[in-house]
Amino acid sequence: MLLEVSDLRVSYPGRPVPVLRGVSFSIAPGEVVGLLGESGCGKSTIALAILAALPAGSAVSGSIRFHGRARSIVFQEPRLALHPTIRAGDQIAEVLRAHKNYRNRKSKTLELMNRAGLDESLYNSYPHQMSGGELQRVCIAQALACEPSLIVADEPTASLDTITQAEILRLFAGLKTESQAGMLFISHHPAILRGLADRILVMYAGEIVEEGGVEQVLSKPLHPYTEALLKAVPPAPGAATKRLSAIPGDPPRFANLPAGCAFAPRCASARTGCRENPLRDSMPFPSRRVKCVLYEHRAPVDVAHALVRAAPALLPTLGVRRGE
Ligand SMILES: Nc1ncnc2c1ncn2[C@@H]1O[C@H](COP(=O)(O)OP(=O)(O)OP(=O)(O)O)[C@@H](O)[C@H]1O
Ligand SMILES: [Mg+2]
Repeated sequence: MLLEVSDLRVSYPGRPVPVLRGVSFSIAPGEVVGLLGESGCGKSTIALAILAALPAGSAVSGSIRFHGRARSIVFQEPRLALHPTIRAGDQIAEVLRAHKNYRNRKSKTLELMNRAGLDESLYNSYPHQMSGGELQRVCIAQALACEPSLIVADEPTASLDTITQAEILRLFAGLKTESQAGMLFISHHPAILRGLADRILVMYAGEIVEEGGVEQVLSKPLHPYTEALLKAVPPAPGAATKRLSAIPGDPPRFANLPAGCAFAPRCASARTGCRENPLRDSMPFPSRRVKCVLYEHRAPVDVAHALVRAAPALLPTLGVRRGE
């Protein structure tokens, strides 16, 4: 594994209530994992923890094991991530200087600009002369400069218009095949993750509530929260449809969560005991994980799969002899 996060718990300084409440997941080399969840659920906190960039004084427990070369991050707001009075090319070259002593930093910078889809003529431009999409490409070139084996992309298209969003997503999809870097791609919009992510983690109130292959999760969600989230958002980012349904009830408040399932107060499938009883992860199907009482009593493996494997042993008891 490239990254292994286990039972991660984080509280910010001066805020005793944890905002990550036992997060576990892993990323294999070259794999793109999507992290999906509403505003405030803790997505950026996971990103900062992985990059060891949480504010000083944060309380962190659990473990983060990273087995790669370097990690880099691309943020939601490129304009805030760049220095306003330094030329774009120099900002990329500066990252090269910090990480490696290249003999020809200028030509390496131009190569990175090229990989990020930036015209060489933009080398001498200042951030205020560039569009949002171009600035995000500068940030991507910076992220690639340290030849990372893990890229954390924290909603990198959130501040862009729809067309630019699609272009930047295409760039990330290209990086996936070309750079072999593993990626944690954060988004609050499921459609963005389709076609990009291999796997999806769904987050609610500081916990991973569901995990599975991207198509499985998006077309057959298991957790009632994932189901509600998929119904609540328009089919494509920026699509001119009205909101189909908002998730009923109030967003969770970390200081006031139930002892059991945090989503129970808003859940249409909640039963007696959901709010009170502690939850554990279930794996009702191979490669799928869900934290919901509805799945706790299901068989842990696919029954048909188990029967096929047991078939040779069962044949004599069924009165069938081999070769018949
Ligand atoms: N520096 C901080 N100090 C104190 N609390 C913080 C800090 N940063 C974030 N929080 C709180 O931690 C919780 C999780 O925040 P986080 O930024 O990780 O959520 P998010 O899922 O990335 O949200 P968004 O989609 O809006 O970016 C929120 O309740 C937020 O208010
Ligand atoms: Mg965030």
